[in-house]
Amino acid sequence: MAEQDIKKGLDGVVVDYTSVSKVNPDTNSLLYRGYPVQELAARCRFEEVAYLLWNGELPTDEQLAEFSSRERAGRALDPVVKQVIDALPVTSHPMDVCRTAASVMGARHPLAEDSSREANMAKAVDLFAAMPAVVAYDQRRRHAAGGRIEPVAPRDELDYSANFLWMTFGEEQVPEVVDAFNVSMILYAEHSFNASTFTARVITSTLSDLHSAVTGAIGALKGALHGGANEAVMHTFDEIGIRPEESLEEAAARAKGWMEEALAQKKKVMGFGHRVYKHGDSRVPTMKAALDKMIAHYGRPELLGLYNGLESAMDEAKGIKPNLDYPTGPTYHLMGFDTPTFTPLFVASRITGWTAHIMEQLEANSLIRPLSEYNGVEERHLP
Ligand SMILES: CC(C)(COP(=O)(O)OP(=O)(O)OC[C@H]1O[C@@H](n2cnc3c(N)ncnc32)[C@H](O)[C@@H]1OP(=O)(O)O)[C@@H](O)C(=O)NCCC(=O)NCCS
Repeated sequence: MAEQDIKKGLDGVVVDYTSVSKVNPDTNSLLYRGYPVQELAARCRFEEVAYLLWNGELPTDEQLAEFSSRERAGRALDPVVKQVIDALPVTSHPMDVCRTAASVMGARHPLAEDSSREANMAKAVDLFAAMPAVVAYDQRRRHAAGGRIEPVAPRDELDYSANFLWMTFGEEQVPEVVDAFNVSMILYAEHSFNASTFTARVITSTLSDLHSAVTGAIGALKGALHGGANEAVMHTFDEIGIRPEESLEEAAARAKGWMEEALAQKKKVMGFGHRVYKHGDSRVPTMKAALDKMIAHYGRPELLGLYNGLESAMDEAKGIKPNLDYPTGPTYHLMGFDTPTFTPLFVASRITGWTAHIMEQLEANSLIRPLSEYNGVEERHLP
């Protein structure tokens, strides 16, 4: 096989149909089941978008009420999952905690070996409802510095986003903060055949179970070239130095200098670039607007200075635009999430897209098994 026939990284290869979402890099658009993601982010709660991804249509009021009560009933941290989390060192990465929790939930699920659509839908909703408690409790136990801490009990009268923040911080957040968080959850929910979704589809294609596919997807999302980039963005900000006393212009100038040096050293700067979007990520303007609101709310213009400085220096030097992880990193930081918790927030959201793809894969399954071209030593024999 000639080398040019090998599609490293499956770049540009179309491997299947999907009706879950459409990414169009030419028009910079992203549709979930036909709806522009910007419209969904402006008008919907995350629960409605989850319902849409799974069912193909937005819920009626009655369907939403039923779905929400199902979600609210599954929010509390399972005592066995808590026990397992408690057995993990507080130094373990929160993504490892998430991955382990998803696996434990799978092994304990009464429908573990049932992969019918009904069973998979039930498992998907269970994971969606339960993951916030895992993420929230894990951040809280790290702050307990070895002391005992109990999870914050969920509150039924709060929606998904408000309750997620409540369980993490033990304080109710103002509507602006809840809205920005809701927007981030909607934007992270789905993005066609990205690496973690493809991982979930590969695992599903062997007729393995939904929790195994989600557990594998969490592993794929952890990497810095994928979901781990939101965390890495904050490490960049930290490396440049966050100085709340600084003006926007001062921070921007320092960030610009840092970027010029990083690019001169041929560094890859996380939060920039995308395999599919080459003229900018369709989700960034919506998330940037949410970040702007958080910067105003928390009174932290110097963070906008760092943001602008890096963005303009990258654009001038290489014409590479930010991806969604760029504005979400500082947004989650402002809300009070620890940096290593950022990617688990992405997990909590993307569970919806992953499981929609798992169900779609099973509807028209074919084992995903590509070929490789051997380039090792020629055939040889033992002496
Ligand atoms: C996402 C990503 C893996 C896509 O990569 P890709 O389609 O394989 O493109 P490449 O990595 O081959 O990059 C093409 C060129 O742009 C450069 N480039 C791409 N992203 C870059 C970045 N974040 N920082 C610096 N240079 C970058 C590459 O160095 C390469 O330059 P070259 O042709 O001079 O060698 C890549 O942009 C990246 O690593 N970004 C940072 C991680 C990140 O933010 N991931 C989240 C994605 S949502």
